Amino acid sequence: MSKAEEPPKKKKDRVVVKPTTPSPVSTAFLILRGALAGVVGAPIGGGESISSLMQPSFIKDKYPSGKFSVGLGKKQGTVCQLDIADGEEGQERLLDAIEEAANRIIQEDLPIKSFKVDRQVAIDTYGTAMLDQTQLKLPKKPKPEDHILNIAWIEGVIMGVPPGAVLSSTKAVGKITLERNMCNINAGKKARKCDIVLKFRVDGSESVPDAVASDADDSVSVQLEQLLQAQIRMPEGQKLLEEGQKLLEEEAVEAAKRIKIDTEETKKEDEEMVVNAFEVKGKIDYSKLVNDFGSKLIDPELLKRIEKLTVGRGTVPELHRFLRRDIFFSHRDMAKICDCLEKNLPFYLYTGRGPSSGSMHLGHLVPFMFTQWLQRAFQCPLVIQMTDDEKFLFKGVYDAETGDNLDYFAQLTFENAKDIIACGFIPEKTFLFSDLKYVGRMYPTIVRIWKSVTTNTVNGIFGFDGTSNIGKIAFPAIQAAPSFPSSFPIVLGTGKTSANMACLIPCAIDQDPYFRMTRDIAHKLVPKSHPLGGKPALIHSKFFPPLQGAEGKMSSSDENSAIFLTDLEEVIERKIKEYAFSGGQETKKLQEELGANLTVDVSYQWLRFFLEDDEELESIGNDYSTGSGEYWSTGKVKARLVDVLKEIVQAHQARRALVTEEVVLEWMKERSII
Ligand code: TYM
Repeated sequence: MSKAEEPPKKKKDRVVVKPTTPSPVSTAFLILRGALAGVVGAPIGGGESISSLMQPSFIKDKYPSGKFSVGLGKKQGTVCQLDIADGEEGQERLLDAIEEAANRIIQEDLPIKSFKVDRQVAIDTYGTAMLDQTQLKLPKKPKPEDHILNIAWIEGVIMGVPPGAVLSSTKAVGKITLERNMCNINAGKKARKCDIVLKFRVDGSESVPDAVASDADDSVSVQLEQLLQAQIRMPEGQKLLEEGQKLLEEEAVEAAKRIKIDTEETKKEDEEMVVNAFEVKGKIDYSKLVNDFGSKLIDPELLKRIEKLTVGRGTVPELHRFLRRDIFFSHRDMAKICDCLEKNLPFYLYTGRGPSSGSMHLGHLVPFMFTQWLQRAFQCPLVIQMTDDEKFLFKGVYDAETGDNLDYFAQLTFENAKDIIACGFIPEKTFLFSDLKYVGRMYPTIVRIWKSVTTNTVNGIFGFDGTSNIGKIAFPAIQAAPSFPSSFPIVLGTGKTSANMACLIPCAIDQDPYFRMTRDIAHKLVPKSHPLGGKPALIHSKFFPPLQGAEGKMSSSDENSAIFLTDLEEVIERKIKEYAFSGGQETKKLQEELGANLTVDVSYQWLRFFLEDDEELESIGNDYSTGSGEYWSTGKVKARLVDVLKEIVQAHQARRALVTEEVVLEWMKERSII
C-alpha cells in the first residue's frame, strides 16, 4: 500500500507532543507584555484594557520566538493614548518604544518578581487585565491548584504567569527583537478597538535557574496596591507620549495655519458682498468695488500731490492717518481738484449725515474727522447736509392715532448737528443745514436734476420699483443738489466765480451711487466754464467695521455692534471686551506660535482708524501678529484700544457739551461762508 493509500490516522491515534516553552521565551513574553503596558500606559486592573494570548512558535523558527496579541479595549474609554500610532511612522515609533523598554529591562537585569496568590483575590485586586487568555476561565472541574495563580511584577506592571511557564532571569533573555513585518497595530485614529500583535524572537538560550514563585505575603500586596494607584508609564512610554503630543500639536498648528491662510487669502464666495446707499454687508472686496463702481484707487503719485497741496502749504503737519493707512482709498476726479488748488481756483467741500439715531457712532466720525482735516488743510468752505427728509422717507412710520414721526427726524438732526459741530470745523466757513428747513433754496437745482434723471435710472441705481413711495424716488436729487453751487446762492454766492466752484465730497464708498447719478447729469447744472464740467469730485473711505467682525459696516440699528459717541467709559470697555471679534488664536501656545490674524481682528482694525502714532501701531501689529512682545495677546490689544477710544470719546463729549442750541442755530444760519 502506497503512502497515499494509507487511511488517515484517527484523531485519538495522533500523538500530540506539547513542547515546553524555553524559559527565555516565556520570560520575554512577560517582559514584552509589561513593556507594552508600560509604554501605552495601560491601566492594570482597569477592566477591559489588556488580555493576551501567547502562541509560541519557537519550534519552527531558527531562533526561539513567540507571538501574542494584546487587546486594549474600545478606543473610547481606554486611557491609552494611541492616536500617535496612526500611519506607518506612528506604528514604527510605538514598536521601537516597546522594544527599547523590553531591552532596557533585560540589560538592567531588572527583577521579575513572581508570587503565588489566590486566584480570586488576585483578580479582585488587579482585575482580569493581568491574565492571559489561557487563564481567563477556570476549568469546568477545577482542582485546588487551579485556584492558585502565579503573578509576576516587572517595573510596576502585574501579569499573570501562564501555567507551566518557566521563567528565567531577565538577563538570560539576551535580546528581544520584534519582527516588524509580523507585528500589527490596529490603533489609529479610525480604529474603534485597539489591538496589537507582537511577534518576537530572543537571542538568549542560556539555561539559568528558574525564578521561583513565592507566596505573596501581606506586605507584598500593600506594595503592589500602592504601585497600582498610578497609571504605569515606563520612560519609553513617557517619551513616546511626549513625542506624540508634540506631533499632535504640530499637526494642530499646521491645521490652524491652513485655517489662517484660508481666512486671509480665500474670499468667502458664498457670502455675497452688498454695498449700496442703504445696505452694506458681506466681506468687502474694495478692489472689486472700485472696479464695479468705476472709481479709482488713490495711487502713490496722487497721494504725493495731495501731500504737497496740504502739508506742503503748512496748514496741516502731516497727511491724515486715514490717507497714510489707505482708509480713504478711492476717488473720482481728485486729480482735477488738485489742478484747481494749484491754479488757485475756488472749491468747496460737501458732506452729510442722515440722522437715523440720536447719537452718532464711531463709523460716522470717519468722514467727519477727515473732512475737518481737509477743511483745515485747504481752508475752504464746507456745506453739511442733514437728510432728515431721507430718513423719514426710508424709515419713518405713520400711526393712525398719533400721526407720523417726521418731527422726530427733524429733532435728530438737531442732536446730530451737535456731534458734527464738535468735530471742530471752522465755524465761519461751515454751513450746516437740515433738508426740511433749507430745501427751498435748493429747489431750482433739485427741479433741474429731476428733469434730467429718469425714474428708470433711479430705480436701476437704487433698486426702487413701483411699490416705493414717490419720495424715495425723488430723494436722490436732493442729495445730489448740494454738489452744485447753485444750491447755495447766499452761502457760496451767485457770481461767475461761485458758479464755477468745484465740489469735493468726502464720504464712505456706500454714498457713491448718489454721486454717480449726479455726475452723469452735472453738465446741465453749471456754466460751460466749470473746471470739472459740474461733476463733483469724490474721495471715498472704507468702512469702519462693526464690533462683531471685519465685514459690513458699523450700524446704528445694532446697539452692540457700535460704540456711540454718547457711550460712557464703562460701556466702551464692556462692549470691546465682550464683543470685539478677535483674530487671535484659541490657546496661548497657538497664539505664541502663530500670532493673530490682523485682517479679521476688530480691535487691531479699529486701532488702524483711531490710533494716531504710526510707530506704535506698527509695533502693536508686529507683536500681535507674531504672538510676542508687549501686545502679544487679544487682551493686551483690546486694553490699548479701550484707552484710545476712551480718550477720543471723552474729548468729543467734552466738546459736544459746549454746543448749545444757540450754537447749532448759528451754524445753521444761512450766511456767506466764502
Ligand atoms: P449716513 O448718516 O448713513 O452716514 C454719514 C456718513 O458716514 C459714513 N459712514 C461710515 N463711514 C465709515 N464707516 C462706517 N461704518 C460708516 N457708516 C456711515 C457715510 O458714508 C456718510 O459719509 N445719505 C447720507 C447723508 C448724506 C451724505 C451726503 C453723506 C447726504 N449728503 C453727502 C455723504 C456725503 C447718509 O444717510 O449718511
